[in-house]
Amino acid sequence: MLRIDWAVLSGVLFGIVGLVGAQASVTVSVSATASHPIPTTLWGYMFESGDGGLYAELLQNRAFQQVTPGTSGALNAWQAVNGATISVIRESVPVSNALPNALHVVIPTGHSGAIGFANTGFSGIEVTSGTTYTGSFFYRFPTSSSFRGTATASLQSSSGSTLGSTTVPLSGAQTSWAQVNFTIRSGSTPSNLNNRFVVTLDGVAASGQTINFVMLSLFPPTFNNHPNGMRQDIASALQEMGPWQWNTTVGPLLNRPGASTISLFKAGRSGDWGYVNTDGLGLLEYLTWCEDLNMEPIMAVWAGYALGGTSVAQNSLGPYIQQAIDQINFVIGGTNTAPGALRASLGHPSPFKLTYVEIGNEDFFAANTYPYRWTSFVNALKAAFPQLHFMATTNIGSPVLTPKPTEYDVHVYQTPNWFAQNTFFYDNIQRDGTKYFEGEYAATTDNSGSRLQFQTMQSAAGEGAFMTGLERNSDIVFAASYAPLLGHVTNNQWVICLTTNSAGNVYRSTSFYVQKLFSLNRGDEYLPSTLPSRTGTTFWSVVRKTSTNQLIIKVVNTATSASGLTFNLPFTSVATSGTAQVLTGGANDSNTPTNPNLVIPKNSTITTGRSFSYNAPAISVSILTFTAS
Ligand SMILES: *[C@@H]1O[C@H](CO)[C@@H](O)[C@H](O)[C@H]1NC(C)=O
Ligand SMILES: *[C@@H]1O[C@H](CO)[C@@H](O)[C@H](O)[C@H]1NC(C)=O
Ligand SMILES: *[C@@H]1O[C@H](CO)[C@@H](O)[C@H](O)[C@H]1NC(C)=O
Ligand SMILES: *[C@@H]1O[C@H](CO)[C@@H](O)[C@H](O)[C@H]1NC(C)=O
Repeated sequence: MLRIDWAVLSGVLFGIVGLVGAQASVTVSVSATASHPIPTTLWGYMFESGDGGLYAELLQNRAFQQVTPGTSGALNAWQAVNGATISVIRESVPVSNALPNALHVVIPTGHSGAIGFANTGFSGIEVTSGTTYTGSFFYRFPTSSSFRGTATASLQSSSGSTLGSTTVPLSGAQTSWAQVNFTIRSGSTPSNLNNRFVVTLDGVAASGQTINFVMLSLFPPTFNNHPNGMRQDIASALQEMGPWQWNTTVGPLLNRPGASTISLFKAGRSGDWGYVNTDGLGLLEYLTWCEDLNMEPIMAVWAGYALGGTSVAQNSLGPYIQQAIDQINFVIGGTNTAPGALRASLGHPSPFKLTYVEIGNEDFFAANTYPYRWTSFVNALKAAFPQLHFMATTNIGSPVLTPKPTEYDVHVYQTPNWFAQNTFFYDNIQRDGTKYFEGEYAATTDNSGSRLQFQTMQSAAGEGAFMTGLERNSDIVFAASYAPLLGHVTNNQWVICLTTNSAGNVYRSTSFYVQKLFSLNRGDEYLPSTLPSRTGTTFWSVVRKTSTNQLIIKVVNTATSASGLTFNLPFTSVATSGTAQVLTGGANDSNTPTNPNLVIPKNSTITTGRSFSYNAPAISVSILTFTAS
């Protein structure tokens, strides 16, 4: 594709305008002719989520599968209630091969009242009046007994008051595992999230009984009401970022991939980063969620290297390649394949949308073994799935890979200034047919390199500056996803996440709003304009939404003073007014649980025309929209 460098056609002009401080104003001349379409996949999400986030399960450590029996740590999130003796044991008769452990509960003799155990959730459980919670557990009596009675499952506030409860029958004759399903409807909304899920028996009736429990689960209503589904609030916050409408906003000129945005997930066991992931939210749930939000997944397969670990030898890769083939067939294979048939048996006979498969993840950590792993995986997977694109995860061009990758996934975690100073990263990349996915990026520190606790306006503006470069280079950058996506306020592996959730809330970061502003104002054609200075602090990108003749100008100012710009537009008919959506704040301003809405986008009306000026506030991301034709 021919790329026009507009700096050659229209040089950067400087002039003095009457702003306080007499700042230089940049004149930006915009082309009427698009250089390339904006890929509909450009702005998306990246997932490596553990439990306690998007997955709606309310109970932590529900099946005891990642703990050591007999240790106090094994009881993480569990508490004894009213004198019961509880411990995690290795079951002699496990409920399944995958879940070898169980909670062993002894009701003491000589006690009365409600005796049992409780779960404190993921640092709390949100309970609201009128909500029905769907729960279940498995139980068995290790030794047959004559006990016939009930257990009470309830939600209790921090002060011990019952918010909602139900009773379920238990039988001492039940020495094999039995599942009990129940619902609890809450009659009140407690004042905080310090609520517990409690299972008790009557101390007198159950005196001396021993009962084992496992896979205790409790869900609130989920997003789109999928059983085993996602939290409504988090999924809705992500939906708010725009994917739902993207399919309706693309113009007819585009070569559409068929889905509206992308979602990268590192499928398979991803305990690599130290967070707990019970796989409750599995491949099918992610795929279903992508379908719900009209998103297209980019799926990673495991490629013979464990992060921080060792590489599988070349002659031993066979089973892992087969596993990758099976995983892909689960997503797109016909029902004549075993994984495709499994998908059909789980209620989804038709294949999911899948175009891109990533071979490994961050294999620059094992650049010495990636060449043989890449060659083995890609040759086998290409033969099995000639229609798919396979993406490399090393540094671009290094090591040399055969066959040459058609796509690369590029990751970068850096300072705000790094992002602002690297907006030309992809302008410098040779156009040789290779496409790029900026699969993980975030400003995670301040400019001195100190880790941020929450994103700041400065870090978000740095990312915004970089994103103007991604948009300008979207002839070769086909997708980008901020990472990580979800974090828990107290229980997290990585503090800088696009949204942070507690048991009951979702906090939207400054970066979240930058992502949202870019996603909802994407346009479908890129219009070249005077290039920003490579060493400057003001950056912009101009796109057009052809279906509505809307011009969308993104302006990012990373400096601590305002920046004046004059736009010259080559259109005959330009609206005399438009909308500015502006995210701005102090350099160190963050949205936090105590001040969640400190920095949010604000709208205003601006004067536009064939030539108009815009004053970008200090440390800001502005989206200017108006019609022009
Ligand atoms: C409990 O619910 C699960 C999931 O819906 C179902 O498969 C199971 O049969 C139910 N068990 C009982 C005893 O009703
Ligand atoms: C866009 O996607 C949504 C969600 O899948 C769907 O309901 C809607 O009909 C789609 N619209 C178009 C024009 O494809
Ligand atoms: C912002 O925080 C940094 C430390 O991260 C500090 O050096 C700087 O002075 C702060 N800036 C403002 C404007 O408060
Ligand atoms: C701000 O303007 C945008 C674009 O016109 C619009 O989509 C959005 O709803 C507006 N937001 C508010 C809070 O009015």
